[in-house]
Amino acid sequence: MEYYKIQFVTIVSFILLFPNIQAWGEDGHAIACSIAQSRLSDTAAEAVKQLLPSYANNDLASVCSWADRVRFYLHWTAPLHFADSPDGLCNYQYNRDCIDQNGEKGRCVVGAINNYTTQLLDYGKDTQYNLTQALLFLSHFMGDVHQPLHVGFTSDKGANLINVHWYTRKQNLHHVWDQSIIETAEERFYESNRDNFVSAIQENITKTWADEVDKWEACSSDETTCPNIYASEGIKAACQWAYKDAPEGSVLEDDYFLSRLPIVNLRLAQAGVRLAATLNRIFQ
Ligand code: ADE
Ligand code: ZN
Ligand code: ZN
Repeated sequence: MEYYKIQFVTIVSFILLFPNIQAWGEDGHAIACSIAQSRLSDTAAEAVKQLLPSYANNDLASVCSWADRVRFYLHWTAPLHFADSPDGLCNYQYNRDCIDQNGEKGRCVVGAINNYTTQLLDYGKDTQYNLTQALLFLSHFMGDVHQPLHVGFTSDKGANLINVHWYTRKQNLHHVWDQSIIETAEERFYESNRDNFVSAIQENITKTWADEVDKWEACSSDETTCPNIYASEGIKAACQWAYKDAPEGSVLEDDYFLSRLPIVNLRLAQAGVRLAATLNRIFQ
């Protein structure tokens, strides 16, 4: 027993000491978190700085995939990364879709965003919650809910079970949206440099999407965050763009890549803008 305890502590320490293991993927989460941190109010920026673990060096992006790494031993967190719909239904309903395999309500990405937002509202008070973890979970899940296939269909596990080729490589369709589209874009258009991609999205936010950003940020008046909206948009994009023309066995190349990249750009931008808006409302 003691041996297993020591082994567990060792594994956990390794994961905390070396936060840069591959796991949206590492890039997608980091992009959304970079955009978010650049849009924080002074008050929110200070709170985030206080809550980040010291090894993050006040860089939210560097810890935005922490939740993906702990899901393999904090098993209760696994269902919190997605919210799938029954097959073929291109809409999202909280009561129907935000449940885990045991039918427990609220145990999905939407419930998790609401839960960690509520926890963070305790900032500055005497609280039972670990607000550092709450910040890392919220920042991660805001990215996940914007990845269309994290709001996909149940039976194919958000397209994890759909095998395709990404150009010449065997890949599953979920992974294409978590990582491949982003990586290919970085290689082809941004000199394999993530910061260049972030800058391009930030420029789109202030120019192309300038008139829409207010709408992205808005929730109904008494809400701090509104993940039901983000998930509804997600399943629509999953049907319209991700699953479309990408059946089992298909070969996805330039046609698919170039027509889907604008959607990936948009969802990364919305994830960043909405994470910032949520944190700015939390830390007022
Ligand atoms: N793991 C990651 N995304 C998922 C999804 N949409 N459904 C099931 N498992 C997942
Ligand atoms: Zn995740
Ligand atoms: Zn994923």
